Amino acid sequence: IPVDPFDCIVFGGTGDLAERKLIPALYQRQRDGQLSEPTRIIGASRSPMSNDDYRKFAESAIKEFVKPSEFDQKQVDQFLARVSYVAVDATSDNGWEELKTEIGNDTKRVRAFYLAVSPSLFADISSRLKSYKLVHDHTRIIVEKPIGRDLQSAIALNDTIGHVFHEQQIFRIDHYLGKETVQNLMALRFANALYEPLWNSAHIDHVQITVAESVGLENRAGYYDTAGALRDMVQNHIMQLLCLVAMEPPASMDADAVRDEKLKVLRSLSPITSKNAEELTVRGQYRAGASSGGAVKGYIQELEHPSNTETFVAIKAEIANWRWAGVPFYLRTGKRLASRASEIVVSFKPIPHSIFGDSAGRVVANQLVIRLQPDEGVKQWMMIKDPGPGGMRLRHVPLDMTFAESFTARSPDAYERLIMDVVRGNQTLFMRRDEVVAAWQWVDPILKAWAETEQPPAGYTAGTWGPSAAIALIERDNRTWHEPE
Ligand code: BG6
Repeated sequence: IPVDPFDCIVFGGTGDLAERKLIPALYQRQRDGQLSEPTRIIGASRSPMSNDDYRKFAESAIKEFVKPSEFDQKQVDQFLARVSYVAVDATSDNGWEELKTEIGNDTKRVRAFYLAVSPSLFADISSRLKSYKLVHDHTRIIVEKPIGRDLQSAIALNDTIGHVFHEQQIFRIDHYLGKETVQNLMALRFANALYEPLWNSAHIDHVQITVAESVGLENRAGYYDTAGALRDMVQNHIMQLLCLVAMEPPASMDADAVRDEKLKVLRSLSPITSKNAEELTVRGQYRAGASSGGAVKGYIQELEHPSNTETFVAIKAEIANWRWAGVPFYLRTGKRLASRASEIVVSFKPIPHSIFGDSAGRVVANQLVIRLQPDEGVKQWMMIKDPGPGGMRLRHVPLDMTFAESFTARSPDAYERLIMDVVRGNQTLFMRRDEVVAAWQWVDPILKAWAETEQPPAGYTAGTWGPSAAIALIERDNRTWHEPE
């Protein structure tokens, strides 16, 4: 369904995010016929560049980041006709009048400012948006993480944007919420009667959330070394996944109904402080090893200077409420792990008593595996009888819903969905201010506890599943990490 015409102004229009994600996502929406006339995309960056050169930049971004079979020259040309460029300096008045002229003064049309720039520029940009009178009722602002590097800076950043925009105009992106499988998690839980009665501590033994990456620093050393895995992945993506698994059923898909429930989960997390951080958390940093069949450098060698930044983190989290008390949520994420695999594993309790003798084999507890990447799908692992006349032998098999096989439609990138939600004004898949703050409230004491010990992160060889301490973290509880397939 086409959305009403809108203007999307991308600050950082020549940057990495615009090139890899935003331009390709908007092009895909064009290809699907969702952009109606006269939707416009305006790139804004400091360097001077002609409209034509920016269109060339956009065309090569599309060439590089969409599949060759999805590159359709006619569609590309129609898309490029919407694209223009203005050189704007966020930190001075240079270019702002030109930007204002380019945008024009249609105050009825949705105007979305995408801040694909360092958060250090958010204050400058939002105050100039205000002083140049570029903000009206249909104006929206889109910001990306990192929203702060701790609780205090997150509050300050939210204040900065909040001075210019109402909460209903602010779209804080967590691109994990735009992933198909993540939204499917809500469908699975709330569009089926099967799971919800079992979705609690009486029937679930524990939950694992793994977001494993095989890549290393990817030319982002400057940012990554100041962040580390806890800030980069846990504070946002993993905690959002945890919220969707653990929240109470919201009354509707209304943005605040969903976000109220997520907020309650964040506020119910048991604190991890210097008293228990050593027992409940593991930090790691990769050493030289092998990845995707080739030798790779260690983090320090890639960085070319010493650093105690963690590239891996594992946490045993607990949600102290009636539904989840006593059910550990084991979280882990890292760079240069054995494979790129992200999944949520819900492990049900074992059966109370087996009526089958030893010869039937082991009865394995049911597991629901929700796989986010690289391939998306849901598998419900069950015990069945091995077919055949050989007596009662049990087998652990998956009921498999691999989406690529079940559905032929292309799975859209998270940004496609999210940008269109901004235009439609739907905030369900965006983080509300109090959620970001609550997530930092949990993460901050962990950061403080780590800083106090001054212990370097545990080393792990690139291409493995992280430090041995992460394995010990779960095996101490007589459980094991689910090995991604
Ligand atoms: C980003 C992190 O938010 O998410 C990156 O900053 C990480 O470090 C990326 O690589 C992972 O996203 P995806 O969609 O590839 O899993």
